[in-house]
Amino acid sequence: MARVIVMTSGKGGVGKTTVTANLGMHLANKNYRVCLIDMDIGLNNLDVVMNMEDRVVYTMLDVIENRCRLKEALVQDDTYPLLYLLSSGGLNQDLTITINQIRQIINQLHAVFDFVLIDCPAGIDAGFKRAVSCADEAIVVTSPHLSSLRDADKVITILSSYNILSKRFVINRARGDLMQDKLMFSVYDIGKTLGIEFGGVIPEDDHVLVLTSDSIKNQKISLNRAFSILANNILTGEKKLFDCTYKYKGLFGSIKRKLKRSV
Ligand SMILES: Nc1ncnc2c1ncn2[C@@H]1O[C@H](COP(=O)(O)OP(=O)(O)OP(=O)(O)O)[C@@H](O)[C@H]1O
Ligand SMILES: [Mg+2]
Repeated sequence: MARVIVMTSGKGGVGKTTVTANLGMHLANKNYRVCLIDMDIGLNNLDVVMNMEDRVVYTMLDVIENRCRLKEALVQDDTYPLLYLLSSGGLNQDLTITINQIRQIINQLHAVFDFVLIDCPAGIDAGFKRAVSCADEAIVVTSPHLSSLRDADKVITILSSYNILSKRFVINRARGDLMQDKLMFSVYDIGKTLGIEFGGVIPEDDHVLVLTSDSIKNQKISLNRAFSILANNILTGEKKLFDCTYKYKGLFGSIKRKLKRSV
């Protein structure tokens, strides 16, 4: 049986697609069979982030409407043979795909994959309901800002009315310099506010724009270390923390903090 995990947030643009793609790559790098499903139907972009856009021939709707078999719609990653993407697309597709149709697809994926990661659209309406109805676990992605946290909190309340067995939060775009100076909510504050299990912390890092499935192995990139810890936490149930303040402690750290803020 695959673990079916939805990435959700309420607020748009906080990093659901980024977390889905990178967590998928890191789990596949650890030899787990992973299928990513783009359920941001209509405004899909997981194929672009995964650099698979040109290789998508069939989408989820083609499977549902019997134009192809599920196997034919799954696009394999170039670097990790255990990582696949089921893409969606086209604004009109959003209206036609039902929860039951997606559940049928996931039922077939259970036999083949260890993880099915669902990229959920922003908001809390039909697209959100469809995505979370198909999952057993949820990762609530939030940035350390008030508006994002408020939406995350609302989503967590809504998730209680779904059959979600475990809920974890992931703080994305954390700024170690601001956290060290107490100008940004700390991991502890966010955990206390959201009241669900801790999943991980991902730093703000421009590497997110250039990461490929090849470069995720480079442990010098802090983003990779953070995603690797997140993947381990998901696998083992541990609550290890990527400390994004580590560069900004002590005398040199305070200089770095000042420099970072002056640019
Ligand atoms: N840790 C990070 N560091 C720097 N930039 C990031 C980080 N995470 C995400 N971003 C950038 O933020 C933007 C939004 O990210 P992403 O598309 O993953 O958010 P989303 O929640 O999926 O958005 P939407 O709600 O529109 O689907 C992207 O340009 C992405 O590259
Ligand atoms: Mg997205």
